[in-house]
Amino acid sequence: MSGHGDAQPMTSAKCGPLKGTASVPGDKSISHRSLIFGAMAVGETTITGLLEGQDVLDTAKAMRAFGATVTRHGEGAWSVNGVGVGGFQEPADVIDCGNSGTGVRLIMGCMATTAMTATFTGDASLRKRPMGRVTDPLALFGAQAYGRKGGRLPMTVVGAANPVPVRYALPVASAQVKSAVLLAGLNAPGQTVVIEREPTRDHSERMLLGFGAALSVEKTAEGNVITLTGRPELRPQTVAVPRDPSSAAFPVCAALIVEGSDVFVPGVSQNLTRNGLYLTLVEMGAEIEFQNPREEGGEPVADLRVRFSGNMKGIEVPPERAPSMIDEYPILSVVAAFASGKTVMRGVKELRVKESDRIDAMARGLEANGVKIEEDEDTLIVHGMGAGGMLGGATCATQLDHRIAMSFLIAGMAAKKPVSVDDASPIVTSFPIFESLMNGLGADISRG
Ligand code: S3P
Repeated sequence: MSGHGDAQPMTSAKCGPLKGTASVPGDKSISHRSLIFGAMAVGETTITGLLEGQDVLDTAKAMRAFGATVTRHGEGAWSVNGVGVGGFQEPADVIDCGNSGTGVRLIMGCMATTAMTATFTGDASLRKRPMGRVTDPLALFGAQAYGRKGGRLPMTVVGAANPVPVRYALPVASAQVKSAVLLAGLNAPGQTVVIEREPTRDHSERMLLGFGAALSVEKTAEGNVITLTGRPELRPQTVAVPRDPSSAAFPVCAALIVEGSDVFVPGVSQNLTRNGLYLTLVEMGAEIEFQNPREEGGEPVADLRVRFSGNMKGIEVPPERAPSMIDEYPILSVVAAFASGKTVMRGVKELRVKESDRIDAMARGLEANGVKIEEDEDTLIVHGMGAGGMLGGATCATQLDHRIAMSFLIAGMAAKKPVSVDDASPIVTSFPIFESLMNGLGADISRG
C-alpha cells in the first residue's frame, strides 16, 4: 500500500451510462485537522464522518505517539482525548506519515514549539517532497531541523524550548505551510501572523476558531493577514466532517464524459477556497445543477446533479484559481481531453511537488493514450479530442499518486480502448471505496 506493499494494476474499460448516487467519503484536509486539533485540546473531541483513508490513519497513529488517546468507535466515528497545547509527549519512535504531505507538515508544525525531538519519515513519494517550505518558518520560532539533502525526509525536528512568535509571509500558496505556522504559533507566546497573498483552503482558520483559539483574518492589499494569539486553551469539539470535494471530483467528471450519464453527488463543498474545479467545469459547458445549498460540518455545501456533457469546450483556466483547485488538475486534464479545443492550465508549478510530479505524470499518460500535450515548468496544455475521442489502450504509471491513478481509471470509462494503471494501491490514501463506488454507478474497473 502506497509503496509499502505490492503494486495493484487496474484497468478501466468503456462503460454504459453512469447512474445513481455517489456518496463520497469525508474530507481529507478536515479529517487530518480534526485529529490534530483534537489532540491539542483539553478533553474529548468526537468526530463523525472521518475519512478512514491511509493518510488519515497515519495521522491518528502519530497523534497517539505524541500522547493523545485516539479511539475508533465505528465507521467514521472516532474520539480524541487531547493533551492540550504544549502538552505533547516526546514520541518513542520514528513518526511514519506514509504518503501524506499534509500529515507530516502539520504535525511538524504542532510539535515545533515544544521542547522535544521527533524524527519523521514516509513512503518513497513523501521522501522526495520538499520539507524546507515548512522547516524554514519553523526555524523562526526557534526550532531546528536536520534532514536529507534538499530538506527531504527522514528528518529530525528539535522543537524550540523557548519559542518566539513569528510574522511570516508565505512564499508559496500553500495551506499546509500556513497551517504548520499557525499550529506552531499555538504554543508560542504573543501573536503569530501569517500573510497569504492568494487565499488557500481555510479549514485551519475555521476549525481553530471553532476550537476556541483567538484568530482573526484581515483582507488587505498584501493579501489575507491571519493573526493568532498563542497559548490558548483549546476546547474539545464535536466535528462532523463534510464530504471531500476533491474525491467528489472523480464521479462528477466521470459522469460528464461517459455518454448518457446522470449522477447525483450529495454534499459537495462550495467553500470558495475549494471549489475552483466546479467553476471551471461550468465555464467549459458542463451540465451541473447545484441543488439545496446549505451548511454541513461548518462548510457551505450543495448537492450536485451531473449529466453527460458532450459539448464541453477547452478554456484558459485563470492562474489565480489554482490554489482553490490544486488537487483537481489531474482529473481536469482528463475532462479537457474529452472537450473540444485547448485547455490551458498556467501557474501550476506546485503540481510538480505533489505526491508525484503531476504535470509529468498526466502529460506522459495522456500522450500514451493518444492525446496531444504541451507543457513547461509551470504550464500544462491539453488538446481536446471531443466526446469519446480519446484513443486509450495504454498503461499509465501512477508514481505512488492516488489522484493520478483515479484520473486515468476515469479516462478509461470513456476512451475507445481500455486504460490501465500500473499501480492503483495508493487510492486507499484518500478514497478507499473508489473502485466499488464507481463500479456501483456502472463503471467497468477490474483488477489486473
Ligand atoms: C492540503 C493542502 C494542499 C493540497 C493537499 C491538502 C491541506 O497542499 O494539495 O492535498 O490539507 O492543507 P499545499 O498546501 O501544499 O498546496
